[in-house]
Amino acid sequence: MCGIVGYIGPKNAVAVLMDGLKRLEYRGYDSSGIAIVEDGKVELRRSVGKLERLEAVVAKRPLSGHIGIGHTRWATHGRPSEENAHPHLEGGVAVVHNGIIENYLALKEGLIKEGARFKSETDTEVISHLIHRETKKGATLKEAVKAAVRIIKGTYALAAVSEHEPDRIIAARMECPLIVGAGEKETVLSSDITAVLGITRKAVFLNDGEIVTITKDSFEIEDFAGNKISRAPRHIDWSPIMAEKGGYRHFMLKEIFEQPRVVADTFRGSVIEEKGEVFLNKFNIDLKRARRIYIIACGTSWHAGLVGKFLIEEFYRVPAEVDLASEFRYRDPLVDDKTLVIAISQSGETADTLAAVREAKRRGAQVIAICNVMESSLTREADWSFMTHAGPEIGVASTKAFTTQLTALYLLAVYLGRTAGRLGAAEGKTLIHELVTLPGKLEKALDGAAHIETLAKKYFQFRDFIYLGRGINYPIALEGALKLKEISYIHAEGYAAGEMKHGPIALIDEDMPVVMLAPKDSSYAKMLGNMEEVKARGGRVMVIVNEGDTEASARADDAIFVPNASVHLMPVIMSVPLQFLAYHIAVLKGTDVDQPRNLAKSVTVE
Ligand code: AGP
Repeated sequence: MCGIVGYIGPKNAVAVLMDGLKRLEYRGYDSSGIAIVEDGKVELRRSVGKLERLEAVVAKRPLSGHIGIGHTRWATHGRPSEENAHPHLEGGVAVVHNGIIENYLALKEGLIKEGARFKSETDTEVISHLIHRETKKGATLKEAVKAAVRIIKGTYALAAVSEHEPDRIIAARMECPLIVGAGEKETVLSSDITAVLGITRKAVFLNDGEIVTITKDSFEIEDFAGNKISRAPRHIDWSPIMAEKGGYRHFMLKEIFEQPRVVADTFRGSVIEEKGEVFLNKFNIDLKRARRIYIIACGTSWHAGLVGKFLIEEFYRVPAEVDLASEFRYRDPLVDDKTLVIAISQSGETADTLAAVREAKRRGAQVIAICNVMESSLTREADWSFMTHAGPEIGVASTKAFTTQLTALYLLAVYLGRTAGRLGAAEGKTLIHELVTLPGKLEKALDGAAHIETLAKKYFQFRDFIYLGRGINYPIALEGALKLKEISYIHAEGYAAGEMKHGPIALIDEDMPVVMLAPKDSSYAKMLGNMEEVKARGGRVMVIVNEGDTEASARADDAIFVPNASVHLMPVIMSVPLQFLAYHIAVLKGTDVDQPRNLAKSVTVE
């Protein structure tokens, strides 16, 4: 978690860094800070809490300069406080860090014995002292950073700026993202593409074990051993406007409304409708070595994986297991060189997912990534990457990334089924035709926004919710409950509707609204039965049904109608009203929709 940013160039670094931090704030918002070289001295401004608090601090005590670094923090070591906020300053060198220094306690002890005085509880401060120890002996900033990275163990993207060398920033990467934006006479450094876009669309992605020196008109990369590395910048497809709110009150709302387009962007270019085929460029999976499938992911991406299991098993007819990445890695999973692993992650930086992928690769598995961020760590680890085209997702609660993941899984399942000959051309054609009609149906599902806002007014004061779904829509019940929890802080649980009678039914009373997903599929009759059971116990039912439904909607207290789609694509359609419901309830409760408490968009700690 945490976001780091750096700038050197003709503009006022303060403004560039604050803008960059705004774009990185989704990575953590416990505290933030900047360090600027002003009149030959490194000056710090730091504040606990969200970025607006730092803005107030800077407004009160303005700064200006053409070089600086900044940080937005998701606390790991040490509570959110000003002392623990980055940058950390020692001997005229300021340091920002994203990641965790695992051996910091031993290093700290040693440094204290040598006379170092620590001002914070963070692991990062050892880096400052290690750098200072070297510069005191006459080392340049780069040499000092190099010496520090040889000693520290753990994960990091770090950047350092010194008042003794005010024309450069030195940064290093180990398992945390770090990007250099090469502008015209200005260079920017960031944890993520979105904070580079304001300056340039030419970016260089650092690899693990690399150090970069940036000046206003150059960047030089070398490995920790000092070998020079030449790497040309890549053009970034994302435009700065994609990372703006575009007139919406929240990013989340904008991102919900973007779904028809981004879903289409995700399948466009990969489908040949007339042949009933999915074309995945450069995918040369050895299907003989794909006798078992493991899908691994976290959070919302894991919910997408649960839907993916249904699709893959039906189209490819190979058993698929879905595992939480954080669990997979700590047991002894039955993964070998006959296993195909599908790792799903919006950010491509989720530590648990990355660790699980590494473990799977160690055991010989082939790995496909489904990911939204180009050049992210996951896409580098995987053998093949299927990129979703959701564009930057800024709202911490995932919406469009989820529905594009569902789209990608659908395509992958059809691809595997067709390639293995288990789906014929005619079936492929039908499946692809259904997908091609999906964006239009999503547009219609978005029309329900106003009705759902009205329903939210009726339901927002309840303290607990149950979400029920069956079959391929059971994961959507889990996802609906997660969305509500994340942004409204209301307790919500998702269950497979058939499980209700095995326990959760004891919770049902008039204070426990039950959101039921009841599309007209083979489990519709069973869902009607579940509704009766809830109603018989005085429960309130909000049902999501297909247009034209008369039975379930008549039994429910409230109904939301969505367009009909094939059973395999109903999860995508069903997601939309649940996103709106969570969104409008959260707005009514007055929570911070885009940056809910305690969360960070990219969870880079295990
Ligand atoms: C989604 O709303 C969440 N904030 C969270 O569960 C997220 O899906 C999870 O942390 C995984 O992230 P990833 O897709 O970037 O790996």
